[in-house]
Amino acid sequence: MILKSLLVTGGAGFIGSNFIRLFLDSHKEIDLINLDKLTYAGNLESLRDVESNLHYHFYRGDISDASLVGRLFHEWHFDAVVNFAAESHVDRSILGPQVFVDTNVRGTMTLLEAAREFGVDRFLQISTDEVYGSLGPSGKFKETTPISPNSPYSASKASADLLAKAWDKTFGLPTLITRCSNNYGPYQFPEKFIPLMIVNAMQDKVVPIYGDGMNVRDWIFVEDHCRAIETVLFNGKVGEVYNIGGSNEVHNIDMAKMILARLGKPESLLKYVTDRPGHDRRYAMDSSKIEVELGWKPCRSFEEGMAETMKWYLQNEKWWGRIISGEYQNYYRQQYGKER
Ligand code: NAD
Ligand code: TYD
Repeated sequence: MILKSLLVTGGAGFIGSNFIRLFLDSHKEIDLINLDKLTYAGNLESLRDVESNLHYHFYRGDISDASLVGRLFHEWHFDAVVNFAAESHVDRSILGPQVFVDTNVRGTMTLLEAAREFGVDRFLQISTDEVYGSLGPSGKFKETTPISPNSPYSASKASADLLAKAWDKTFGLPTLITRCSNNYGPYQFPEKFIPLMIVNAMQDKVVPIYGDGMNVRDWIFVEDHCRAIETVLFNGKVGEVYNIGGSNEVHNIDMAKMILARLGKPESLLKYVTDRPGHDRRYAMDSSKIEVELGWKPCRSFEEGMAETMKWYLQNEKWWGRIISGEYQNYYRQQYGKER
């Protein structure tokens, strides 16, 4: 693929902004167009350092807006699309599923249709391990594991994956899908577990643990995920799915205790709260396909990644302070019926 013009959607979010920074740094001649609606999760502060790059172009808009999407395809002649744009939080999908279907399903279809009409060399759909459902105490998700989503979020992401597959099989659109495990790192919105714990503990606020705290997630540092996406974009085989994981399974309660210990905070901040409905017990990814076929593997140890992440939140209180002061308070009040 000769890549001159790349559409990235949802680039003002957590993973998208990390991807854009990494991509612009290593590809000096490619125009990167970031289409983002700037929902509560989108934040241009996360991209301040790339704003002046002449190859970076930002458009505010909705991926479900067919006329805007069509105009951008017409103007920029995209060679490839990386679709990060999504509603991404399971708890929010339980509170209000509609927008998850609007963006994650209808939005993805709008992009697929534009890509079909105008033609692209590659359409990379960014998906998640959550589409596979929940694991018991052993085993890992492989690309061949049947999808079996449990939350409105994961159901909407699985639907998008099926659409991407269908556009490949039926219309010959060259789509690829990556499914990654839980990411952590700089610029993650503090509603997700790791940044929520860091930010709450730093303020001596309660850290909520859902259920018995024994759910397991397979954590990967965001930059390792972004490198995997770059690898699949350039070298992945069209029509294929690639699992990406950190090979780093941690029980939630152990993660919480580790973060408190690193911050020198007492375990009395931990509070067991009512479990999330339909809470998936365990995720674990088998990444052997991308490792063997494309030569990717995570570079950052959990120790290094966590140290970098905690340092970033300690040094960037301005970034998260603005977030937790307003909109997030409303969300928390709505969810738990009380102030944080
Ligand atoms: P995020 O919530 O931090 O960011 C999502 C971005 O999409 C925001 O900038 C938001 O403004 C934008 N957006 C939302 N709706 C939009 C719309 N209709 N049109 C245009 N832009 C819109 O999410 P994230 O954690 O960065 O996740 C990015 C992608 O990676 C998602 O597709 C998610 O499903 C997937 N993923 C996330 C994880 C994780 O651990 N965070 C793991 C695997 C896969
Ligand atoms: P989260 O970051 O929401 O990611 P996901 O649900 O997509 O895996 O949650 C990670 C794990 O942490 C999940 O098992 C739910 C749990 N959790 C808590 O125990 N307390 C919290 O306040 C949050 C947000 C999550």
